[in-house]
Amino acid sequence: MTQDEQKRAVAAAAIQHIPVGSIVGVGTGSTANYFIDELAKIKHKIEGAVASSDATAQRLKSHGIEVLDLNNVTDIPVYVDGADEITQHLHMIKGGGGALTREKIVAAVARRFICITDQTKLVDVLGNFPLPIEVIPMARSYVAREIVLLGGHPALRQGFTTDNGNVILDVHGMQIMNPVELETKLNQITGIVTNGLFARRGANLLLLGTNEGVKTVTL
Ligand code: A5P
Repeated sequence: MTQDEQKRAVAAAAIQHIPVGSIVGVGTGSTANYFIDELAKIKHKIEGAVASSDATAQRLKSHGIEVLDLNNVTDIPVYVDGADEITQHLHMIKGGGGALTREKIVAAVARRFICITDQTKLVDVLGNFPLPIEVIPMARSYVAREIVLLGGHPALRQGFTTDNGNVILDVHGMQIMNPVELETKLNQITGIVTNGLFARRGANLLLLGTNEGVKTVTL
């Protein structure tokens, strides 16, 4: 199976995990886009969706799926999203598409996080993929200096502004042996809105696309 076929397969497999009548949290990215296409086929069986980005909201609407404001929603049984890297412990790096803040917010509300990825995303140690960090623009240089003190090499994502009007620093050169600890440390740096480590609240289930089909990974 090609990488794209694996993404399609895991997106289709995720549909089995959507309870009838529920509000679905929907991630951002190419794999999440395939999931939206699959969700459209069962749109009459769900109450609506909460989007993790403007792009996702647009795609959901284009399929006739109702997009709900998170502030009017108390229960999201399942959040479905891709990842840039994920470990066997279901810790992730996310934010390659720059939607990490809204993704983390919707994931925080959701009862279960189902991660859908092709097999290239599964790693032993996080950090080969540069860690995205959303930063308030005026704090960019300060935050970059703090990250250097933690051993990272931050690079400003050129020509990119998040849905929230902020910038992204992509942090290279980190071997993240303890993702929960690093996520917590980064959360303490003033000016950082969100870091792309999803470890304190990791995934509950990984649907992994492989050449042999979709594998299910749980803790
Ligand atoms: C978006 O900001 C990211 O967190 C995506 O979930 C991640 O980049 C995965 O994207 P793909 O499914 O396109 O690989």
